[in-house]
Amino acid sequence: ELHRIPHPPYRLPLLGDVLGASRTTPLQDSLRQARRLGPIFRRRAFGREFVFVWGARLAADMMDEARFAKHVGLGVANLRPVVGDALFTAYNHEPNWQLAHDVLAPGFSREAMQAYHPMMLDVAERLTAHWDRASAAGRAVDVPGDMTKLTLETIARTGFGHDFGSFERSRPHPFVTAMVGTLSYAQRLNTVPSPRLLWRAARRNEADIAYLNRTVDDLVRARRAGRSGEGDLLDRMLETAHPETGERLSAQNVRRQVITFLVAGHETTSGALSFALHYLSRHPEVAARARAEVDRVWGDAAAPGYDQVAKLRYVRRVIDESLRLWPTAPAFAREAREDTVLAGEHPMRRGAWALVLTPMLHRDPEVWGAGAERFDPDRFDAGAVRARAPHTFKPFGTGARACIGRQFALHEATLVLGLLLRRYELRSDPAYRLRVTERLTVMPEGLRLRLGRRTAPA
Ligand code: HEM
Repeated sequence: ELHRIPHPPYRLPLLGDVLGASRTTPLQDSLRQARRLGPIFRRRAFGREFVFVWGARLAADMMDEARFAKHVGLGVANLRPVVGDALFTAYNHEPNWQLAHDVLAPGFSREAMQAYHPMMLDVAERLTAHWDRASAAGRAVDVPGDMTKLTLETIARTGFGHDFGSFERSRPHPFVTAMVGTLSYAQRLNTVPSPRLLWRAARRNEADIAYLNRTVDDLVRARRAGRSGEGDLLDRMLETAHPETGERLSAQNVRRQVITFLVAGHETTSGALSFALHYLSRHPEVAARARAEVDRVWGDAAAPGYDQVAKLRYVRRVIDESLRLWPTAPAFAREAREDTVLAGEHPMRRGAWALVLTPMLHRDPEVWGAGAERFDPDRFDAGAVRARAPHTFKPFGTGARACIGRQFALHEATLVLGLLLRRYELRSDPAYRLRVTERLTVMPEGLRLRLGRRTAPA
């Protein structure tokens, strides 16, 4: 029934719509197509047909867990040579998904978060030390670069008691280079007709994977030799048996989970913080309100406690609203569990799948009104959220395979924004226009801010 779904006018046999499209911004290209073609549309690329869904009614139907499930395809499936059946890339039927999910879920409970909080604070203070030096010297800061250092150090520290020394290095740690290398190799495989074209890169990629595995094995060996991780994720992975079956994660699976968490845990959160800082710098009235909340809730406490972060309701809304406009993992795929009809209109065979295009779902005027492109954190005050239809805000995906790190990311981001608002005035360059770069995730390109040091609390 594909013929009923609109598509762009140019139909070329192999490269398809990609020819008219920019190769570096496939997402933003899809957003443009979405605006032209409506709530469901299809595009050809590399000889394949992709269906995109973003209209709120259609998207909500795809969130029905009884009829649809996560689809591991495309970009996600390409990561399997690196992370195999770890949480993010596991097929729904693979037994290691349920096992790891059950073993690791307590690692994201409220109690676990309370244990991570002081570690998160430590890392955030390395960021503010770095920004203090920049503000004293009158230098602008590289927001996405610094946020990426912060989130990488945070997940490495809380997850595995590891320190990559990002703030002390001028070049990325070799582990990060290998990780980025293997991920971009995986992405490139997606865009060539035959993997043989990448034979040179393939050799480099094997070396990268070997290096990643070796590093993680060293970490695990050190931990087994007795250094405690104070209840971090690695401790849980190594020590927790499944509550019912008593089964544990295998050594190979632990490797895959460690790499998964390092990857999944940092670039998305870094992007979320970067977009939030961009919007705060452009909306002084929002920044003033958020700062007033931080001053009120934290007072002059030298270091905010766990509960004091949870109480920053308005700062949280700033993050939600940033994730509405730029959900930093901008799409996820859903497949039909059985033959079904999407929203009573589009028949789908068992296994057929479509991408939910969250940046457009989050701008559907039927849900968010005519001013959907406007940044306005009040869209997330309790009353407004209650009044909205379910399944209209999905930055963390949906259902059983939704993001396990959601609370982790939100706590980290709220804590860091609170600390930054309390300490600095954020001054944007009036000439800056938001440009979005795309990797697996989205990020505000070239965002730099000048900082004024506040003299008030702390
Ligand atoms: C899954 C977004 C932060 C770990 C997902 C999914 C989305 C997402 C959309 C579902 C993907 C799909 O359906 O294919 C985000 C965003 C984040 C964030 C926007 C930050 C703002 C984190 C953090 C961690 C994490 C901090 C770890 C500490 C994971 C894992 C999965 C996942 C392991 C796979 C879960 C499963 O399938 O069982 N995330 N994420 N994420 N995320 Fe996140």
